[in-house]
Amino acid sequence: MPDQSTPPWWRTAVFYEIYVRSFADSTGDGVGDLRGIHDHLDHLVTLGVDALWLTPFYPSPMADHGYDVSDPRGVDPMFGTMQDFDDLLAAAHDRGLRVTVDIVPNHFSSAHPWFLAALDATPGSPERDRFIFRDGRGPDGVEPPTNWLSTFGGPAWTRAPDGQWYLHLFTPEQPDLNWRNPDVGDDMEATLRFWLDRGVDGFRIDVAHGLFKAVDLPDNPAGLAPDLMSETAEPTGMWNQPEVHDVYRRWRRVLDERPGEPVLVGEVWIGDAAEQARYVRPDELHLVFNFRLLFSAWEPSEMSQAIDRSTHELRAVGAASTWVLSNHDVVRHTTRYGGGAAGLRKARAALLLILALPGAVFLYEGEELGLEEVELPDAALQDPIWESSGHTVRGRDGCRVPMPWSGDRPPYGFTPGERSWLPQPLDWAELTVAAESRDRTSMLGFYREALARRPRTLDPDAPLTWNRRDSVLDVTVTGAPGVRCVVNLGAEPVALPPGDLLLTSDPVTGRMLPSDTTAWLALPPA
Ligand code: NOJ
Repeated sequence: MPDQSTPPWWRTAVFYEIYVRSFADSTGDGVGDLRGIHDHLDHLVTLGVDALWLTPFYPSPMADHGYDVSDPRGVDPMFGTMQDFDDLLAAAHDRGLRVTVDIVPNHFSSAHPWFLAALDATPGSPERDRFIFRDGRGPDGVEPPTNWLSTFGGPAWTRAPDGQWYLHLFTPEQPDLNWRNPDVGDDMEATLRFWLDRGVDGFRIDVAHGLFKAVDLPDNPAGLAPDLMSETAEPTGMWNQPEVHDVYRRWRRVLDERPGEPVLVGEVWIGDAAEQARYVRPDELHLVFNFRLLFSAWEPSEMSQAIDRSTHELRAVGAASTWVLSNHDVVRHTTRYGGGAAGLRKARAALLLILALPGAVFLYEGEELGLEEVELPDAALQDPIWESSGHTVRGRDGCRVPMPWSGDRPPYGFTPGERSWLPQPLDWAELTVAAESRDRTSMLGFYREALARRPRTLDPDAPLTWNRRDSVLDVTVTGAPGVRCVVNLGAEPVALPPGDLLLTSDPVTGRMLPSDTTAWLALPPA
């Protein structure tokens, strides 16, 4: 059992998400890989993060860029070899960086041997029972078995050659597993043990609120895929079934046997904070992504409620909160905040806010450079959402454009080849790691300083006290060392409260805090 006397590392860690395809390419094929990450670890050390989260690098036909896994215990040749993975892990550990990896338990790839065997087998066979195959409705079963829609558009069911239908809550190449079949849980545990044996420090669990479906597969009342991020979402048979919690209890026991406090982080898209907190009860996951702030308007009451509500429910079960502004599935926050200089200014202010809050922080590659969402031409789009929505939803490629490392034109040191898998903008020369490293006033300079000066000993259970003022988010985080964090969300400068200024997101003259600026103030001695 883990040592209970000191708080585990992950409760206050800064994680950095590496979208492996887009971080750094070592081979010249234009796609990021494990050796590319290895070559750039020093950037992450200088940045000051504690842990990495690597998106899937497992063998995959790449229908959803690796979230369609055909061998969960291998490395896709596109990303390197198992030796490359072992080398990367050792090099990261040598530098004091922990490494967490994705696990994708809701679905396999349609190229996984289990699914190929299921297609070859007959209805009702043990092979089919590992997935969710059903007869259709209507004459000759030509209608899908339920009215469920795929998250990516279109029906959640595809017809197999023999006429049965199989369920896929994402693309047709991602058939959902049947978690009521014991083979599935056993295989997933073998995957956890495989990567733990290699030395990983934990897992990010894809679609962690998925896995089980209601036994009778009930239609959704409105026929639509319910928006689980709404507080008042109707229950659905598709997501968040009670049985899923037993899976995480089993996984927690597996991790608790291991040294080094490995962590389970769930991607749980549920807007009801109390319902989401059930995933981090003491014998389940350690952390869940908290997307509430990500969805909040730049407005004090909405932001303070987002912080309060999540913190309250998570603390009620003894869990630490997490703070996240961007990831590989959402529009980059610089762009959500309006883009250009205004977007960057708010992004700096938002970073100081989340670094002052108790709990773990998740950064997404490129945000430390102030990258914006890229407007890609139609012909360049590769996200399966673009096709499955009939070219109505552009998808997530705009936040996945490869990292610029150096040089003054694409591919900006991303690849030794000529081009990257998604085209980079022509105006990124000032946004490369090399260019921003030379400029202490750059976004990268700011991120490095903010991470270095984050109140590291901030207790994840530290009380939050709001000092209510119009247009201002002003919160005192009591504890050792404690900090008062003031964010001016209004258009006019506001007077700063007393206290030594520790760091500001933009320059402050006198005691007036400009618009869209955050200040950290030292607390007076108790
Ligand atoms: C969530 C992942 O973050 C996303 O990129 C992926 O498409 C879906 N899960 C399906 O695996």
